[in-house]
Amino acid sequence: MKRMIPLGLLLGLSLVIGACSSTSGSSYGSTYHKSKTAKPMMAPAFGGPGDVARATSLWQSMRGYRSWSSYPGLAGFQPGRSPHGKFLKYYINDAAARNPSHAGAGYLIVKENYTAQDSSTLASVTVMQKIPGYDPADGDWFWVKFGPDGSIMKNEKNMALAGRVAKGMPKGCIACHANAGGEDFLFVND
Ligand code: HEC
Repeated sequence: MKRMIPLGLLLGLSLVIGACSSTSGSSYGSTYHKSKTAKPMMAPAFGGPGDVARATSLWQSMRGYRSWSSYPGLAGFQPGRSPHGKFLKYYINDAAARNPSHAGAGYLIVKENYTAQDSSTLASVTVMQKIPGYDPADGDWFWVKFGPDGSIMKNEKNMALAGRVAKGMPKGCIACHANAGGEDFLFVND
């Protein structure tokens, strides 16, 4: 019992000292670091408020896409590939249906990704919209990954997957779709 008191006091004291020094240290440190790194940082190519707003209104304008047409001969469940999911369904808007093999202005493709050939397993809805002048170096595509309910999905860094995803990075929509034939970033017409 006699030994416990000084030990407890010591522990308590060291906790208080530790807490004080670490709080003051880290709060100064992080404030300083934030202001130092924020300035030279470029606006990210995706996931910003403008991208999220554009994706949100796109989802609104896409309502009813399940009644749209599909690529000729590709209606209904089709086998899908990694990373999207085992099964997929394609839907294309009127601009795309007029000339499916040529991605002109307004071309919009909506791809539902399923984990099984069963409508209840819809995991995500990936979308590519052609906007002339939006991103000339990478095919002028606006990319979005929606959840089944229209929420915008995020990557592991908590960035919304909407916009020029993930431009300049070795992995992501643009990097992978750049491997599609015909340099149009579309796999479906290869
Ligand atoms: C590692 C490669 C890879 C990545 C990353 C990728 N895709 Fe795809 N994507 C594919 C493949 C392969 C297909 C062919 C159809 C399928 O199997 O789903 C495809 C098909 C599509 C299609 C149908 C049009 C087409 O090209 O055939 C859309 C739309 C699409 N992806 C959107 C996206 C979006 C949005 C992202 C990023 C959030 C993304 N993809 C990331 C490989 C990729």
